[in-house]
Amino acid sequence: MERIIIYGSQYGSTRRYAEKLSAQTGIPAVSYKQAPNLSPMKTIIYMGGLYAGGVLGLAKTLRNYSLQDGQKLFLVTVGLADPKDSENQGNIYASLQRQLPPELLAQAKIFHLRGGIHYQKLSFGHRTMMKLLYQSLRKAPLEKQTAENRALIETYGKQVDFTDFGALEPIIGEIQSEML
Ligand SMILES: Cc1cc2nc3c(=O)[nH]c(=O)nc-3n(C[C@H](O)[C@H](O)[C@H](O)COP(=O)(O)O)c2cc1C
Repeated sequence: MERIIIYGSQYGSTRRYAEKLSAQTGIPAVSYKQAPNLSPMKTIIYMGGLYAGGVLGLAKTLRNYSLQDGQKLFLVTVGLADPKDSENQGNIYASLQRQLPPELLAQAKIFHLRGGIHYQKLSFGHRTMMKLLYQSLRKAPLEKQTAENRALIETYGKQVDFTDFGALEPIIGEIQSEML
């Protein structure tokens, strides 16, 4: 039975999660840029970094895809904001709805992980984007901000890493139960 982990990662947090998941499950991990053939796969695990709400590479990989009988899809997002916050979860789900057709999204098992950010390593474009966002968000008091915006304000300009490989456990559990 073929299985695949596909990741969309700009700065490495999602790739590190994907590689760890691969090491722990024996499922190969490849970048979405390799455009792997999904048809022979029994299980597809898509992991992507969150960028302004969108999941990197997700639409390109799955927007025009329909699951075949018996195929299983896992979607794993990696972002800076706390995925335990229900408002953040709602926002991530809304962005998934913008990227994937409803039938496909309804069939997917969704998980959220936390990554990190290192401002000195950001591209000029991303740094400019974050600066503009930070300047506009700063105008409202912290207690009135959403968890997403609070995370951005609190980590602005810094190097932070919330990566927690232990958070892969529930995903591994689900994958193993699919494999039985
Ligand atoms: C331009 C930009 C936009 C981002 N937008 C979001 C976002 O909407 N929600 C979020 O939780 N994190 C956001 N982040 C943080 C990234 O999701 C986080 O850095 C993640 O670990 C990146 O994954 P990667 O290292 O695999 O590329 C953003 C980061 C940048 C640079």
